[in-house]
Amino acid sequence: MDIEKKIKSQIQSSKKDMRLDTFINYALFGTNGYYFNKKPIGSNYDFVTSPEISQMFGEIIGLYIYYIWQSKINRKFNLIELGPGRGTLFNDIVNTVSKYPNFLKDSNIILVEINKKLIKLQKQNINIIKSKNIKWSNKINFNSKLPSIIYSNEFFDCFPVRQFILKNNWLEKYVSFNTKENKFLLKDRIVKSKLLLKLLNKYKKEKLLELSFERNRYYEKICKFIKNRGGLFFTIDYGYFKNIKNFSLQAIQNHKYSHVLEQVGNKDISSHVNFIDLLNIAEKNKLQIEECCSQREFLIKYGILERKNNLSKKNDTNKLNVELDKLISKKHMGNLFKCLIVSNI
Ligand SMILES: C[S@@+](CC[C@H](N)C(=O)[O-])C[C@H]1O[C@@H](n2cnc3c(N)ncnc32)[C@H](O)[C@@H]1O
Repeated sequence: MDIEKKIKSQIQSSKKDMRLDTFINYALFGTNGYYFNKKPIGSNYDFVTSPEISQMFGEIIGLYIYYIWQSKINRKFNLIELGPGRGTLFNDIVNTVSKYPNFLKDSNIILVEINKKLIKLQKQNINIIKSKNIKWSNKINFNSKLPSIIYSNEFFDCFPVRQFILKNNWLEKYVSFNTKENKFLLKDRIVKSKLLLKLLNKYKKEKLLELSFERNRYYEKICKFIKNRGGLFFTIDYGYFKNIKNFSLQAIQNHKYSHVLEQVGNKDISSHVNFIDLLNIAEKNKLQIEECCSQREFLIKYGILERKNNLSKKNDTNKLNVELDKLISKKHMGNLFKCLIVSNI
């Protein structure tokens, strides 16, 4: 069934407005939802990500991961990418580390992906598919006894969020359906649950909160896994380390911002990742914080400027400068994207 019809009939038959995170879950991950069967990434599709901008992004991450493995693990391990998209980041990492054959020889590679069209694309695009036994899964196998290096780019931004505002009471945004105008709209509802109020009141001083309990739970499971079995968990995503003044939920279609509640299932819905929550979860689970910085700071610290100069000797310098600028400048992705690396090694 068409996703809009499904949500509409759910709201009408239950005679209740729908929680925002439930709506987002249907729109992105339900049958016929956006991530169910669309190919969203690339210049001909809805949005472009850092690995699609330049090979330099994956090369720096590849070198970092190799350095960690070689200096602190140096034995059989799980190499896990969450949400590999078109497989570009994975290929760039593998190209970089292929100079060090032990790394790939000792790696048990797992790509965690839910989108069937993207899995097919990854199987076509990934260069080492014939020489290495790569496994695909829709979730992490937390029973593995090996240490793991887990990494992701723009993975956590698509987790559903709930939005709260403090006026006289805490109010939560719900999705309602207006039959006359035949459209979805947001409505405020007073939060009554004592458990939820207790949690919201922990965020002292905040008047506006955008929380993803689902994302936090996912992140925490990985932190516990790393704590128990050892390894490193590397996340890059757009997000914030300081509290926000406005809600960040957004929809992107064809490289343009568009309305979250319209053409449901045909556009990417995402929100800026609340890195304050992620950092707190990692600290609560007693992981070491290796890096907690902007994408710009991470890439510069680990050598992207030197890599660009090196590539410039044999390639079009102007093109490389444009790519570098997109990745690290403050007006593009440099500051908006954050990097959090936590470990137990
Ligand atoms: C915004 S794309 C980023 C793709 C890629 N990392 C890149 O940087 O180009 C998000 C990716 O995560 C996948 N994804 C989203 N939620 C997921 C989940 N819960 N489990 C596994 N994969 C998921 C999507 O299908 C897609 O491949």
